[in-house]
Amino acid sequence: MRNNIEYSKIISGTMTWGEWGKQLTTSQMCSLIDFCKEHEITSFDHADIYGDYGNEEAFGKAFLQSNTNRDEVQFISKCGIQFVSKARSNRVKHYNYSKDYIVWSAERSLQKLNTDYLDLYLLHRPSPLMEPNEIAEAVQKLQKEGKIRQFGVSNFSPSQIGLLEKAISVQANQVEFSLNSAQVMYDGTFDDCIINNRMAMAWSPLGNFFRENDKRQKRINEVMLELQEKYEASSSQILLAWVLKHPAKVIPVVGTANKIRLGDSIMAQNIDLDTEDWFSLLTASQGHEVP
Ligand SMILES: NC(=O)c1ccc[n+]([C@@H]2O[C@H](COP(=O)([O-])OP(=O)(O)OC[C@H]3O[C@@H](n4cnc5c(N)ncnc54)[C@H](OP(=O)(O)O)[C@@H]3O)[C@@H](O)[C@H]2O)c1
Repeated sequence: MRNNIEYSKIISGTMTWGEWGKQLTTSQMCSLIDFCKEHEITSFDHADIYGDYGNEEAFGKAFLQSNTNRDEVQFISKCGIQFVSKARSNRVKHYNYSKDYIVWSAERSLQKLNTDYLDLYLLHRPSPLMEPNEIAEAVQKLQKEGKIRQFGVSNFSPSQIGLLEKAISVQANQVEFSLNSAQVMYDGTFDDCIINNRMAMAWSPLGNFFRENDKRQKRINEVMLELQEKYEASSSQILLAWVLKHPAKVIPVVGTANKIRLGDSIMAQNIDLDTEDWFSLLTASQGHEVP
């Protein structure tokens, strides 16, 4: 099901490149796109909503000015979340998966990103009101017109994917996964990816590691310091290596817009964490050994 599109081993997430974070200028974005490509990070994760519906356009403008060709990179984008924002007339945050909206949103992403196609198009979050047949009609139309190459979901449970697969094949699931947020290893989400050869992507792969200073963090830090020395690696590289070791062949979607950290991230693929080291980190995170 992963088909023939090659995504990079680390995906660059663009959520905080614009309004919601770094507020990068066009030339800074341009330089970051080229830097990523030169460092084997060729896949970029977007969503219509990022930067208050503004990031795709800013990225697309920078992409045109970059030295990167479209066939050297892969674009992922998402649709469905409807924010209350100056950019939209929504009264309440909700999801929209009507056929017309899915098609309209994809076409708008293409226009903003300055591209003819998306490599992968995701439904951003499951909606209680989603209709598999209607979604399938939209996706088939987009695929037939060559506007999207692959179709997937984000934050879906295996049963929600099963519901969609009554009507359309789902090729990827992007979910939250990190040492400190590892539910998807236990609730069947990653089993489903392995069984069905579905591409698994991890958003926030560093979890809250750099944001917390609680008891759990202190336990992890004790183990982390030893592992950093043993593997001659940074803490973020160890955290990514922990994610990469899962048999679902998870692709981390990293959020940093810092070139040194991006360069470090791709090197994490060269770290083969020993099984006991992997469990030491899990034990430290959970606060108890596995049963
Ligand atoms: N599908 C979904 O529902 C969904 C939800 C959320 C996110 N996403 C995607 O996932 C991507 C990544 O999410 P994320 O930003 O939460 O991922 P993350 O890579 O786990 O976290 C990135 C954050 O960690 C910081 N950081 C990284 N290395 C650090 C270090 N050595 N020291 C201190 N801070 C460090 C970064 O700061 P700097 O930038 O300063 O380096 C950044 O604020 C997003 O861009 C988006 O594409 C998808």
